[in-house]
Amino acid sequence: MQKERKLLIAGNWKMNKTAAEALDLVNGLRRELAAVKEVDLVVCPPFTALGHVSQAILDSNLRLGAQNMSEHTGGAYTGEISAAMLKEFSVRYVILGHSERRQYQKESDLLVANKALTAHAAAIKPIVCVGETLEQREAGITEKVVGDQVRGSLAGLSKDQIEETVIAYEPVWAIGTGRTATAEQAQEVHAFIRRILAGLFDEATARRIRIQYGGSVKPSNARELMSLPDVDGALVGGASLEVRSFSDIVKNSI
Ligand code: PGA
Repeated sequence: MQKERKLLIAGNWKMNKTAAEALDLVNGLRRELAAVKEVDLVVCPPFTALGHVSQAILDSNLRLGAQNMSEHTGGAYTGEISAAMLKEFSVRYVILGHSERRQYQKESDLLVANKALTAHAAAIKPIVCVGETLEQREAGITEKVVGDQVRGSLAGLSKDQIEETVIAYEPVWAIGTGRTATAEQAQEVHAFIRRILAGLFDEATARRIRIQYGGSVKPSNARELMSLPDVDGALVGGASLEVRSFSDIVKNSI
């Protein structure tokens, strides 16, 4: 399948896998996916496994991502992790503003935008997550919610920075529920996000930005979702925790 933008498929391991378990998983992925060139591949282990995974993927086609990062560059912020600390492990991507963090840690669009700026300053590519809840979808305000999140979470980014940013559309009602957005629902919101980006920047820039879909992506629905014109990859949670399911998602997307 020839796509306008190269697909980016990332595994968000969330709070799963000890360092030893992470090593098992990534070694399996490295073996299974060694021949894949058509898709950019990223694994996002928990912080405590970054060192091990970083070593394990040397000279491979897998890239490393983190699941969060501080907006500050250093100092008295107990429990936080800075961009420089991530860079030490060759982290290339960082997931920002995941709905779980927006919900449990009360992360705001402004905070996510500040984190994105901090990530760019360290040459780490942010994967900025947006998405509506079921309640919001049913109230017919999906575009308002997602539009506000996109504008707010990308505030202050330059054109160069936005081109090095990935957006992940993850409808909250589809995350970890087994309930995936239909192809039509996903394409509709992705196209909407691209229109917002065109307004914020310009058409040509908007066409270069990758927008991933996330929310119960699995081997059986990957092909259809990844073939949609404005879907440029996947952010995979549950199905990224096993070699077989993540590899099958990648292979079914090519
Ligand atoms: P899921 O999670 O694939 O388990 O639905 C996706 C995500 O939260 O990034």
